[in-house]
Amino acid sequence: MRVILFTGKGGVGKTTTAAATAVRAARSGVKTLVMSTDAAHSLGDALGVELGGGDGPREVEPGLSAVQVSAHHLAGGSWRVVQEYLLSVLSTLGVDAVVAEELTRLPGAEEVAALLELRAQVESGPWDLVVVDCAPTAETLRLLALPEALAWHLERLLPAQRGLIRTLRPAAAAAAGVPLPESEVLEAVTGWHRQMRHVQRILTAPQTSVRLVLTPERVVIAESRRTWTSLSLYGFVVDAVIVNRLFPDAVGDAAEAGRRAPDPWRAAWNAAQQDGLREVRDSFAGLPVVRTPYLPAEPIGPDALAALADAQEGDGPDDLLAPVAHRGMTVERTAEGFELVLPLPLAHARDLSLQRRDDELLVLLGEHRRVLTLPSALQRCVVQGASVRSGLLRVCFVPDEEVWPRG
Ligand SMILES: Nc1ncnc2c1ncn2[C@@H]1O[C@H](COP(=O)(O)OP(=O)(O)OP(=O)(O)O)[C@@H](O)[C@H]1O
Ligand SMILES: [Mg+2]
Repeated sequence: MRVILFTGKGGVGKTTTAAATAVRAARSGVKTLVMSTDAAHSLGDALGVELGGGDGPREVEPGLSAVQVSAHHLAGGSWRVVQEYLLSVLSTLGVDAVVAEELTRLPGAEEVAALLELRAQVESGPWDLVVVDCAPTAETLRLLALPEALAWHLERLLPAQRGLIRTLRPAAAAAAGVPLPESEVLEAVTGWHRQMRHVQRILTAPQTSVRLVLTPERVVIAESRRTWTSLSLYGFVVDAVIVNRLFPDAVGDAAEAGRRAPDPWRAAWNAAQQDGLREVRDSFAGLPVVRTPYLPAEPIGPDALAALADAQEGDGPDDLLAPVAHRGMTVERTAEGFELVLPLPLAHARDLSLQRRDDELLVLLGEHRRVLTLPSALQRCVVQGASVRSGLLRVCFVPDEEVWPRG
């Protein structure tokens, strides 16, 4: 099953583009689900149908279903078990019940619900294609980074908790004055861990890719460039860029546009969009660029969305369902030791920093961070240097003399 996620800056046309892609796929015989992970939920508005929340996928037309995920999906399940435990701890500490309820709202509950629903649909849905309409970039990055980060934390939390409960339960509970988690709380958390690892595998599989939607404006392009770098840091592959809201003249030839646009306001915007398009091609060199015209009306409903998809031009991936080439982290042998290579398109050395921590390498990029677990060969090495060139981060490792004496 193919999974395509659409993200981009707020308001650029993510929902519209995701819905149009889904309608076109469904009408060409691909059994498609389009799901929205955005709490704002405008997917139903774009499709012109009532989707509600929490009711599971609804058929929009033959071959096309849609679903909007919300945190309500989590309300009954395993989260409730953990929440009840936290409530009992807080009440022991004398926290007012209403305040406690508020405090135990899981940060990122929407995101977790969305990920679990995505997993459920990929696991057991009858689809050939799942199109995901994501929230604006910042939330999407949080969403996509969540499974790995959560799994990482749970891996460190679980053994300690298990040990504590087995050996210290009565004494520790008395000393701390708060209840220790029951085993069902631990089971819930263990279940999350398994599910998060699974979601992570789905998100980084060759059947999954991200498409960046943008408009040809400098501010939007600048954000999209950073998004490409951040997505790559987390190991996600971007396989196309969709430039939306192009004025009819800007889609065609610039000189032609100049002749046809005597109105200075329009001429200025056409010229700006041409510059924007050039900047997009330069910035995202190597990625297919799809151009979507600015229609004279909002494309609402499957027919209008199909018309929008038909009006798209450019070199988008022909076969929607073909897997994408994934270039994750690789390790190469060098004369001195090893080189770890991570694709980080458009990254600058000034925004990056690295930290070595035992068998892990932390890569920090602005506010984003990824913990890379080092392959065993590298665990016995020390970092000698690093560089970023041509979209690749290279970290040189040499054997640690103390661990691997030479000769
Ligand atoms: N190519 C287009 N031509 C005409 N109208 C468009 C086009 N693309 C999007 N729109 C309209 O622009 C508005 C915003 O689009 P949309 O909701 O798809 O953006 P979004 O990126 O999903 O926004 P948000 O960040 O709020 O989720 C909608 O009213 C939509 O119908
Ligand atoms: Mg949207």
